[in-house]
Amino acid sequence: MTRNFLSVADLSPHEIGLSIDSAIRMKGGESTKPLDGMTVATLFEKPSLRTRVSFEIGIRQLGGDCVNLGASEVGLGVREPVADVARVLDRWVDIIVVRVNSHDSLLEFAEYANAPIVNALSDLEHPCQAMADIMTIQEHRGELRGQRVAYIGDGNNTAASLAIACASVGADFVIAAPPDYQIPTPAWEEANRRASESQSKVGWVELPQQAARGADVVYTDTWVSMGQDDETEVRLEAFKEYQVNEELMSYAKPDALFMHDLPAYEGKEIAPGMIDHPRSVVFDQAENRLHAQKAILAGVVT
Ligand code: CP
Ligand code: NVA
Repeated sequence: MTRNFLSVADLSPHEIGLSIDSAIRMKGGESTKPLDGMTVATLFEKPSLRTRVSFEIGIRQLGGDCVNLGASEVGLGVREPVADVARVLDRWVDIIVVRVNSHDSLLEFAEYANAPIVNALSDLEHPCQAMADIMTIQEHRGELRGQRVAYIGDGNNTAASLAIACASVGADFVIAAPPDYQIPTPAWEEANRRASESQSKVGWVELPQQAARGADVVYTDTWVSMGQDDETEVRLEAFKEYQVNEELMSYAKPDALFMHDLPAYEGKEIAPGMIDHPRSVVFDQAENRLHAQKAILAGVVT
């Protein structure tokens, strides 16, 4: 059966643990070439720095070759239906890594291509980010089980994947978000299911201070995701009490990490200077995208 990675939920909790262990070994210098002789297509419908570059480097380090395609060249669903793009690429390449406007496009890729499909971000999930994030928490805190991860802000793609990942590995996840911006029900239900299996907790609170209290990790992401520009004004108003700043960090444990998937917007979801906060690990998260994704790629072909 083809192994796709469209959601963190495509990996069992055990597989998530194995993948993180593998990523940590690769970061430590383990060299492995599971993509030897293979070609990977990456296709980005939205802008990207971290995902795009770290996939290309990772594919090469795993012995593979890659072809990178931008939105305007392919015209996914505009110049050509997604199903045809999927079937054409499938004739040439061994893995398709794709960043899409709509998660439905990913499902269509998965339906029409035999090659494994890897989600490089959709409107619903950002699973590669979540894998790098829990790897980063593991590195800095020494363990995942029992860690309290406070996510402050929009219940978006990043939040959904992080909630499922935390619940899978036994970390507690609490989101502080306005009532209208919670994690969508399917991902939230999955996180709850996994939390009851791992005996961890997931929860929603309205006040950021309530989420941050006693946290091991304070995490935030942009209030306006790619493709939501029309909603900017409404969102800035809805989230104005949700900024991560020194005052909010003071509710967390004294050694709590500050995390952000980047790009970050100072003066909006973070106060100026948070990126360089002594407990900020944002560049470790970015670095770990490479290693976490190498483990994911190795996993979908083996
Ligand atoms: N965090 C993240 O996915 O960054 P890019 O959008 O630059 O890939
Ligand atoms: N939630 C953000 C993540 C960017 C990496 C977005 O979708 O734009």
